[in-house]
Amino acid sequence: MPASSHLRVLPVMDSGLFTRLFPPSALQRLRAVAELDQERTAADFASGADIQFLAAAEVLLTCWGAPSLNASLLAAAPNLRAVVHAAGSVKEIVTEESWARGIEVSSAAWANARPVAEYTLAVILGGNKRMLECRDLYGTVRSSWDRAQIPEDAGNQSRTIGIVGASHVGRRVIELLGPFDFELLVSDPYLTSTEASALGARLVELDELCSVSDVVTLHAPALPETRQMIDARRLALLRDGATLINTARGSLVDTDALAEALTARHLYAVIYDLPNVLLTPHIAGAAGNELPLLGEAAVDELLRYASGQPFAHPVLRADLDRTA
Ligand SMILES: NC(=O)c1ccc[n+]([C@@H]2O[C@H](COP(=O)([O-])OP(=O)(O)OC[C@H]3O[C@@H](n4cnc5c(N)ncnc54)[C@H](O)[C@@H]3O)[C@@H](O)[C@H]2O)c1
Repeated sequence: MPASSHLRVLPVMDSGLFTRLFPPSALQRLRAVAELDQERTAADFASGADIQFLAAAEVLLTCWGAPSLNASLLAAAPNLRAVVHAAGSVKEIVTEESWARGIEVSSAAWANARPVAEYTLAVILGGNKRMLECRDLYGTVRSSWDRAQIPEDAGNQSRTIGIVGASHVGRRVIELLGPFDFELLVSDPYLTSTEASALGARLVELDELCSVSDVVTLHAPALPETRQMIDARRLALLRDGATLINTARGSLVDTDALAEALTARHLYAVIYDLPNVLLTPHIAGAAGNELPLLGEAAVDELLRYASGQPFAHPVLRADLDRTA
């Protein structure tokens, strides 16, 4: 780690992102410790056009659209020592070569978890209220609306919520759900019962979680072992009227089996294009006025690095096979 206070920092990310991540106050903090080069995109390097800008860079400040640290990029960046990623997963960035070079990596996955968890909370509360169903019904009956039409199972009292994965997002979801009249279950092969209790949830196997939860919310990383973890068998375990929320990755769910289950049974999901489904694009993570959360997280890490402290949120190679 460097002792000097002015690092050569090169931002590399999709164009237009930098100013949205770093409002003037964040930029001022950044400039106190960093000599900032004009931001580049991965495409600038791929074409070879701007490869010379890598020569002086000690730190790459990355976000969505960052390049992979392949051998040719690393060869053009002899001074590179660290990557500070102002977003979640770094799997598309790090390589065997970058680990071998000892390049340190930090991620803002913990900061990005906050908006995802808030979105999940909103969907759980709205889903339990049967908001979509009531909206659609109201749209058809209007003046003849009668409160007796509100589904009997609507409401947020005494609900059981199953959280799949005590990940950054999963833990934040558990925290946010704490004040409600919910029993919280969590399933995660890397978690102990004691750790789950300390978080405020009860550790159960995934099958039990699927069988007894009113809401099943997925927060596990996309890994070979989580691929289609919600398959036809587990979908069949879901209670009548249960809601499935997937703000993780599509690969976690057998989508054909889900489409079939949603058509055949009284289930709700936050994924598909059916009346019992709320389908949104990839909006749960930091977006709009939440982007500076990621920028501030990156600035905090750069300040630590510049003063010779270790990253507060390092990414370790050994953890990559169980993280997003
Ligand atoms: N919708 C969005 O915008 C958005 C934004 C951020 C993250 N995500 C997704 O949300 C999910 C969680 O992201 P994160 O950064 O919190 O993940 P993370 O890297 O913190 O997750 C790692 C943890 O997941 C748990 N885990 C690993 N294997 C598991 C398994 N088989 N079953 C249950 N738990 C398991 C372990 O506790 C592990 O430590 C990922 O799928 C990620 O891609 C989506």
